[in-house]
Amino acid sequence: MSERLAVVSGGGTGIGAAVARSLVLDGCSVLVLGRRAEVLSATVERIGAECGRPEAIRAVTADLTDPDQAAKVVEAVGGRPVDVLVNNAGGYHSAESDTLAGIAANWRATLDTNVLTAVLLTEALRPALRRPGGRVILISSIAAQRGGGDAYSAAKAALHGWAYSLAAQLGPDQITVNVVSPGYVAETEFFDGRMTPEGHAQRVAATLVGRAGVPDDVAESVRYLASPAAGYVTGQVLGVNGGSVLGR
Ligand SMILES: NC(=O)c1ccc[n+]([C@@H]2O[C@H](COP(=O)([O-])OP(=O)(O)OC[C@H]3O[C@@H](n4cnc5c(N)ncnc54)[C@H](OP(=O)(O)O)[C@@H]3O)[C@@H](O)[C@H]2O)c1
Repeated sequence: MSERLAVVSGGGTGIGAAVARSLVLDGCSVLVLGRRAEVLSATVERIGAECGRPEAIRAVTADLTDPDQAAKVVEAVGGRPVDVLVNNAGGYHSAESDTLAGIAANWRATLDTNVLTAVLLTEALRPALRRPGGRVILISSIAAQRGGGDAYSAAKAALHGWAYSLAAQLGPDQITVNVVSPGYVAETEFFDGRMTPEGHAQRVAATLVGRAGVPDDVAESVRYLASPAAGYVTGQVLGVNGGSVLGR
């Protein structure tokens, strides 16, 4: 069997880079996506060297909120079936204004970053998904399940409802669709200078295991859901949160 092809959005940093690395180690050929070319090429070089498989990872620069740029990914895939699609790109937009115009701008930016990126990439690649056997994984957040993030919580929760629809649509083709919902994960660009020692300690104290998550914690869950072994798991939300939220 030829090696599986995986596409990972936001694969240049943090959780996405850890996912890309674990899929390369698992034998996949991986295409990582993001807006910053220099960040992507440094990650491609690092993962290729660490895994001893420089030919197995490459990058395409794309702002996935833009339909034309999402379409570029289809060209890069070049007609090969996509075995694994990991919609990981996302992020938090701080609300800078309490005017209605400012609130509208913040919600639009948050929905664009966390929902539209996943929708456009998935729709662009939908015809290319491996039938049977394709895997679609959406990276949500604990904020979808417990709130606390305003527009960010709402945007991530939107992914859950959409994943259930997508799982129903793609199930007859033996394609699975699942959501991974991380809790607090340190060592990424997500908090972008917003994290304080108190905020860190509070989040660690909210876990049952007494530590922050690391990108590899999430990557290992994605690796399982992306594997051929996970064909009977679809339409599910998997919390990877150290026990901060239980059972949902
Ligand atoms: N860290 C946490 O505690 C945590 C917890 C729960 C959920 N999450 C979720 O996990 C995912 C990964 O986050 P992370 O923690 O690894 O943070 P991160 O390092 O900031 O990763 C986000 C990635 O998304 C990419 N991205 C953002 N907007 C994009 C766009 N419009 N088009 C293409 N790529 C885009 C970024 O690359 P460019 O800037 O180069 O485009 C970056 O590589 C996100 O969806 C985040 O919401 C994180």
